[in-house]
Amino acid sequence: MSDKTILKLQLPTDPLWVKNVVESNIEELLTDHAFCEQKAASNAITLIVQNPNLSDLVQEMALLVQEEMDHFKRVHDIILARGFVLGRERKDNYVNELRKFVVIGGGRTVQLVDRLLFSAMIEARSCERFKVLSENINDAELSVFYHELMISEATHYAMFIRLARKYCGDIDVETRWKECLAFEAEIIQNYGKAETIHG
Ligand SMILES: [Fe+2]
Ligand SMILES: [Fe+2]
Repeated sequence: MSDKTILKLQLPTDPLWVKNVVESNIEELLTDHAFCEQKAASNAITLIVQNPNLSDLVQEMALLVQEEMDHFKRVHDIILARGFVLGRERKDNYVNELRKFVVIGGGRTVQLVDRLLFSAMIEARSCERFKVLSENINDAELSVFYHELMISEATHYAMFIRLARKYCGDIDVETRWKECLAFEAEIIQNYGKAETIHG
Protein backbone atom coordinates (compact mmCIF):
# COMPACT_ATOMS: atom_id res chain seq x y z
CA MET A 1 0.00 0.00 0.00
CA SER A 2 1.81 3.13 -1.16
CA ASP A 3 0.99 6.62 0.10
CA LYS A 4 -0.12 7.50 -3.44
CA THR A 5 -2.78 4.80 -3.59
CA ILE A 6 -3.90 5.65 -0.08
CA LEU A 7 -4.50 9.36 -0.83
CA LYS A 8 -7.43 8.52 -3.04
CA LEU A 9 -10.34 10.60 -1.86
CA GLN A 10 -13.44 9.24 -3.50
CA LEU A 11 -15.15 12.59 -4.18
CA PRO A 12 -13.15 15.56 -5.50
CA THR A 13 -14.31 19.08 -4.59
CA ASP A 14 -16.01 20.99 -7.40
CA PRO A 15 -13.82 24.06 -8.21
CA LEU A 16 -17.06 26.09 -8.45
CA TRP A 17 -17.08 25.95 -4.64
CA VAL A 18 -14.25 28.53 -4.79
CA LYS A 19 -15.88 30.75 -7.42
CA ASN A 20 -19.46 30.64 -6.21
CA VAL A 21 -19.03 30.42 -2.46
CA VAL A 22 -15.57 31.15 -1.06
CA GLU A 23 -14.66 34.27 -3.03
CA SER A 24 -17.76 36.07 -1.81
CA ASN A 25 -16.62 35.80 1.80
CA ILE A 26 -12.86 35.60 2.30
CA GLU A 27 -13.15 36.90 5.86
CA GLU A 28 -15.31 33.92 6.81
CA LEU A 29 -12.91 31.50 5.10
CA LEU A 30 -9.93 32.94 6.97
CA THR A 31 -11.61 32.82 10.39
CA ASP A 32 -12.68 29.22 9.82
CA HIS A 33 -9.24 28.33 8.48
CA ALA A 34 -7.47 29.80 11.52
CA PHE A 35 -9.55 27.57 13.81
CA CYS A 36 -8.88 24.52 11.63
CA GLU A 37 -5.19 25.04 12.36
CA GLN A 38 -5.90 25.50 16.08
CA LYS A 39 -7.98 22.29 16.11
CA ALA A 40 -5.20 20.38 14.33
CA ALA A 41 -2.82 21.50 17.09
CA SER A 42 -5.36 20.58 19.80
CA ASN A 43 -5.83 17.13 18.27
CA ALA A 44 -2.06 16.56 18.34
CA ILE A 45 -1.97 17.58 22.03
CA THR A 46 -4.83 15.15 22.80
CA LEU A 47 -2.89 12.33 21.13
CA ILE A 48 0.07 13.12 23.40
CA VAL A 49 -2.13 13.17 26.52
CA GLN A 50 -3.77 9.85 25.58
CA ASN A 51 -0.54 8.06 24.59
CA PRO A 52 2.36 9.37 26.70
CA ASN A 53 4.19 6.02 26.51
CA LEU A 54 4.42 6.04 22.69
CA SER A 55 7.64 8.05 22.42
CA ASP A 56 7.80 8.32 18.62
CA LEU A 57 4.20 9.51 18.51
CA VAL A 58 4.84 12.06 21.26
CA GLN A 59 7.87 13.39 19.39
CA GLU A 60 6.01 13.69 16.09
CA MET A 61 2.97 15.30 17.73
CA ALA A 62 5.13 17.82 19.61
CA LEU A 63 6.53 18.99 16.27
CA LEU A 64 3.09 18.97 14.68
CA VAL A 65 1.65 21.22 17.42
CA GLN A 66 4.36 23.79 16.65
CA GLU A 67 3.77 23.61 12.91
CA GLU A 68 -0.01 23.88 13.15
CA MET A 69 0.22 26.84 15.53
CA ASP A 70 2.68 28.46 13.12
CA HIS A 71 0.00 28.02 10.42
CA PHE A 72 -2.54 29.53 12.81
CA LYS A 73 -0.31 32.55 13.36
CA ARG A 74 0.21 33.01 9.63
CA VAL A 75 -3.52 32.92 8.93
CA HIS A 76 -4.03 35.37 11.79
CA ASP A 77 -1.37 37.67 10.31
CA ILE A 78 -3.28 37.67 7.00
CA ILE A 79 -6.55 38.39 8.84
CA LEU A 80 -4.99 41.41 10.57
CA ALA A 81 -3.21 42.65 7.41
CA ARG A 82 -6.58 42.73 5.65
CA GLY A 83 -8.13 44.81 8.39
CA PHE A 84 -10.25 41.98 9.82
CA VAL A 85 -10.47 40.63 13.37
CA LEU A 86 -10.56 36.90 14.05
CA GLY A 87 -14.18 35.84 14.52
CA ARG A 88 -15.46 33.25 16.92
CA GLU A 89 -14.77 29.58 16.30
CA ARG A 90 -16.98 28.11 13.57
CA LYS A 91 -18.57 24.72 14.06
CA ASP A 92 -16.96 22.15 11.76
CA ASN A 93 -19.89 19.87 10.93
CA TYR A 94 -17.78 17.82 8.53
CA VAL A 95 -15.22 16.95 11.21
CA ASN A 96 -17.96 16.30 13.76
CA GLU A 97 -19.62 13.82 11.40
CA LEU A 98 -16.31 12.21 10.50
CA ARG A 99 -15.48 11.77 14.19
CA LYS A 100 -18.16 9.05 14.33
CA PHE A 101 -15.76 6.85 12.37
CA VAL A 102 -13.72 6.32 15.55
CA VAL A 103 -15.07 3.18 17.21
CA ILE A 104 -16.01 3.77 20.84
CA GLY A 105 -14.87 1.18 23.35
CA GLY A 106 -12.99 -0.95 20.84
CA GLY A 107 -9.89 -1.29 23.00
CA ARG A 108 -6.81 0.90 23.15
CA THR A 109 -5.15 -0.11 19.88
CA VAL A 110 -8.38 0.05 17.89
CA GLN A 111 -9.10 3.51 19.27
CA LEU A 112 -5.60 4.74 18.55
CA VAL A 113 -5.56 3.44 14.97
CA ASP A 114 -9.00 4.90 14.30
CA ARG A 115 -8.02 8.27 15.71
CA LEU A 116 -4.83 8.30 13.62
CA LEU A 117 -6.81 7.42 10.47
CA PHE A 118 -9.46 10.03 11.33
CA SER A 119 -6.63 12.58 11.66
CA ALA A 120 -5.09 11.40 8.37
CA MET A 121 -8.45 11.82 6.66
CA ILE A 122 -8.86 15.42 7.83
CA GLU A 123 -5.33 16.19 6.62
CA ALA A 124 -6.08 14.52 3.26
CA ARG A 125 -9.33 16.44 2.71
CA SER A 126 -7.72 19.69 3.87
CA CYS A 127 -4.87 19.03 1.43
CA GLU A 128 -7.42 18.56 -1.36
CA ARG A 129 -9.36 21.70 -0.38
CA PHE A 130 -6.13 23.76 -0.25
CA LYS A 131 -5.22 22.47 -3.71
CA VAL A 132 -8.60 23.49 -5.13
CA LEU A 133 -8.29 26.87 -3.41
CA SER A 134 -4.74 27.53 -4.64
CA GLU A 135 -5.64 26.63 -8.22
CA ASN A 136 -8.90 28.57 -8.41
CA ILE A 137 -8.92 31.51 -6.03
CA ASN A 138 -8.68 34.94 -7.60
CA ASP A 139 -6.27 36.23 -4.96
CA ALA A 140 -2.51 36.04 -5.61
CA GLU A 141 -1.42 36.02 -1.95
CA LEU A 142 -3.85 33.29 -0.92
CA SER A 143 -3.12 31.20 -4.00
CA VAL A 144 0.59 30.99 -3.04
CA PHE A 145 -0.24 30.47 0.65
CA TYR A 146 -2.67 27.62 -0.01
CA HIS A 147 -0.23 25.92 -2.35
CA GLU A 148 2.35 25.85 0.42
CA LEU A 149 -0.15 24.56 2.99
CA MET A 150 -1.33 21.87 0.57
CA ILE A 151 2.20 20.43 0.61
CA SER A 152 2.44 20.44 4.39
CA GLU A 153 -0.99 18.79 4.80
CA ALA A 154 0.15 16.01 2.44
CA THR A 155 3.16 15.48 4.72
CA HIS A 156 0.92 15.36 7.81
CA TYR A 157 -1.42 12.92 6.16
CA ALA A 158 1.51 10.60 5.34
CA MET A 159 2.80 10.89 8.92
CA PHE A 160 -0.55 9.86 10.44
CA ILE A 161 -0.76 6.86 8.10
CA ARG A 162 2.81 5.90 9.03
CA LEU A 163 1.97 6.11 12.75
CA ALA A 164 -1.19 4.04 12.24
CA ARG A 165 0.89 1.31 10.59
CA LYS A 166 3.51 1.50 13.33
CA TYR A 167 1.08 1.09 16.23
CA CYS A 168 -1.56 -1.10 14.57
CA GLY A 169 -0.73 -4.41 16.30
CA ASP A 170 -2.70 -6.99 14.35
CA ILE A 171 -5.23 -4.52 12.93
CA ASP A 172 -5.37 -4.43 9.11
CA VAL A 173 -4.72 -0.72 8.50
CA GLU A 174 -5.34 -0.94 4.75
CA THR A 175 -8.83 -2.37 5.20
CA ARG A 176 -9.67 0.10 7.95
CA TRP A 177 -8.42 2.98 5.78
CA LYS A 178 -10.65 1.85 2.91
CA GLU A 179 -13.58 1.88 5.33
CA CYS A 180 -12.59 5.37 6.39
CA LEU A 181 -12.50 6.54 2.75
CA ALA A 182 -15.97 5.11 2.12
CA PHE A 183 -17.30 6.69 5.31
CA GLU A 184 -15.83 10.07 4.30
CA ALA A 185 -17.27 9.85 0.78
CA GLU A 186 -20.78 9.47 2.24
CA ILE A 187 -20.32 12.57 4.37
CA ILE A 188 -18.57 14.90 1.93
CA GLN A 189 -21.25 14.61 -0.73
CA ASN A 190 -23.41 16.95 1.36
CA TYR A 191 -20.68 19.61 1.51
CA GLY A 192 -19.10 22.09 -0.90
CA LYS A 193 -21.75 24.71 -0.15
CA ALA A 194 -20.22 26.93 2.55
CA GLU A 195 -17.29 29.33 2.69
CA THR A 196 -15.36 27.27 5.23
CA ILE A 197 -12.37 24.97 4.69
CA HIS A 198 -14.50 21.83 5.06
CA GLY A 199 -17.82 23.54 4.24
FE1 LIG B 1 -1.92 23.13 9.15
FE1 LIG C 1 -2.00 19.60 9.15
